[in-house]
Amino acid sequence: MSKSMRVAVLTLSDSGYEGKREDRSGVVIRELMEEAGYTVIDSKILPDGIEPLAEELKTLCDADLADLILTTGGTGFSSRDLTPEATLSVVERQAPGIAEAMRWHSLQITSRAMLSRATAGIRKGTLIVNLPGSPKAVRECLEYILPSLKHGLEILKGTASECARP
Ligand code: MTE
Repeated sequence: MSKSMRVAVLTLSDSGYEGKREDRSGVVIRELMEEAGYTVIDSKILPDGIEPLAEELKTLCDADLADLILTTGGTGFSSRDLTPEATLSVVERQAPGIAEAMRWHSLQITSRAMLSRATAGIRKGTLIVNLPGSPKAVRECLEYILPSLKHGLEILKGTASECARP
């Protein structure tokens, strides 16, 4: 990467937001992204639900504060798991292949991967990707998608035009 890509990390967790649970997944994401050469510009915990996340996503994208936003948590089946709905309410273009790839890879590790409703999409110049909530799942998904994510971001930012396969 010629210029370091900016990534914001958003953890969706009512108990984390209330200070009742440590944000271990956010820490794992930060570590993996820094190791991969990204600049983590923001890392915060939001309560579950559509509004807080949708507002934060719009702020980060519309002010061009991040090239990539990684969310963790809120992709499952509980009534408060609304991360995909918040994401879909703000994206202009969906990028379904990223979540498909995470589920495909994750299903080879645990059949429960089918329970993540994670999605991904683009708003203006920012790519938004949902990751499941556990530190283990975050690591499994990120390690798999990171190489392709880098290429996708370079195309989105106009710093790569060719789709050369590795
Ligand atoms: N994906 C991977 N790679 N590894 C996992 O352990 N756990 C699954 C799934 N995806 C898992 C995974 C489980 S058990 C659930 S319930 C869903 O992610 C949703 O998690 P979330 O509600 O914390 O986002």
